[in-house]
Amino acid sequence: MTERHLPPPVHADIVRVDAHADDEAGEHHTSMAEIVELCKRRGIIFQSSELYGGLRGAWDYGPLGAAMKDNVKTAWKRAMLQLRDDIVSIDAAILMHPKVWEASGHVQGFTDPLVECRDCHQRFRADQLAANAKGEAYCENCGGKDFTEPRQFNLMFRTFVGPTEDSSSQVWLRPETAQAMFVDFAHVQLTSRQKVPFGIAQVGKSFRNEITPRNFIFRVREFEQMEMEYFVKPGTDEAWHEYWIAERWNWYTRLGIRPENLRIRPHADDELSHYAKATVDVEYRFPFAWSELEGIANRTDFDLTQHGRHAGRELTYYEQETDERYVPYVIEPAAGVDRSLLAFLVDAYTVEEAPTATGGTEKRTVLRLHHALAPVKVSVLPLSRNEKLVPTAQKVSDLLRPRWLIAYDDAGSIGKRYRRQDEVGTPFCVTVDFETVEDDDAVTVRDRDTMAQDRVSIDRLPEFLAERLDLP
Ligand code: GAP
Repeated sequence: MTERHLPPPVHADIVRVDAHADDEAGEHHTSMAEIVELCKRRGIIFQSSELYGGLRGAWDYGPLGAAMKDNVKTAWKRAMLQLRDDIVSIDAAILMHPKVWEASGHVQGFTDPLVECRDCHQRFRADQLAANAKGEAYCENCGGKDFTEPRQFNLMFRTFVGPTEDSSSQVWLRPETAQAMFVDFAHVQLTSRQKVPFGIAQVGKSFRNEITPRNFIFRVREFEQMEMEYFVKPGTDEAWHEYWIAERWNWYTRLGIRPENLRIRPHADDELSHYAKATVDVEYRFPFAWSELEGIANRTDFDLTQHGRHAGRELTYYEQETDERYVPYVIEPAAGVDRSLLAFLVDAYTVEEAPTATGGTEKRTVLRLHHALAPVKVSVLPLSRNEKLVPTAQKVSDLLRPRWLIAYDDAGSIGKRYRRQDEVGTPFCVTVDFETVEDDDAVTVRDRDTMAQDRVSIDRLPEFLAERLDLP
């Protein structure tokens, strides 16, 4: 094994718990209801097809939510692709040959145990039934305690390609983005001329027909994943597994997740997926429980071997220096965009007492999002809609717009507008007032977190903001 095969050292102050650690979230600074309410009120995330009564397990991201989601994906791509030269990305089709899902084990084994309440016929995941104080399972819909025997329910959505609907035209909506990275392994390795160890990454939609979607965007039927398959020489897999655990931990904490709300929990033997030799979950302390944010698995050579067998074409790697041919092992950090965004929202959500203009205090809701994740970076606020102020405020917006996403807001009192920007996490507000146009050609810049205000000349404004915005 040469040094090239082994990971560089990476430091992370990781908190590890054991496989059976308690998942009680304990006292929490916020609730899911507060997050859902904020998201709905500000049009960040809301129920899909609300006009028709909504569709369970599907959510729409409005303008601010879509911008936040893009920022999460951009931050992930920056860490995975832009800052390194050993990972390349693909954008594969969602519809894949049905044999992919036979080889991967999903047709046979991608199931959850389903039970039905005999009283109201509501269906539940057998392993997620609500329990009363005596530990007895009960139906959350009608309170009944009589359930059918569990049966395995496949989570993949089925559809058909072409005009006939029979078994020969049946395909699946992908339940994970990962399989394309295995199926495309030979193509990508050859054309990108990457040498093991190297990775293939992809961000895209996945679909799972979850029996009980719940907890807002935590468990949904249509979601986005950010997955990376890192191909390594057998024997170096455990070292690379540790490396990726540390890297992913650092990604979340660098983007503002408080380390006390994050932990690494290994899967117990009976919890491991059929393809994995070892898996850890990066767990976040959501208000409802400690729950999985991301899985980091050592998938061994399972996937390349399986696809090689099923397709009748070996998926191996030839190592020139050693004249060896082998099936690489795979380390897979697999994160969810929606779940990460939920964790970032929960972690950033703060309600605090803030001083008012009249000397009192009032409650202020602030999303203390990392600047890189904030949907709007700067808001430009003319003190009023006075005709003297508007042209200057628009000039200030035009000056900043090429560099950052700007929101122009002239509706309501200035205090209300500050609060509106605070609760969607805008790092800076720029106010144009009468002094600006009549006297000093300067504006007031207000900091979201400290509420400190600085008077800054318009000439120097882009530079002033660039120095303070924590952006890559
Ligand atoms: N390729 C491996 C894989 O898909 P997973 O643990 O099933 O592993 C990875 O999924 C991540 O995808 C999860 O940690 C989670 O963030 C996200 N995810 C999975 N199912 C989800 C769902 N129903 N709703 C929202 N996010 C989901």
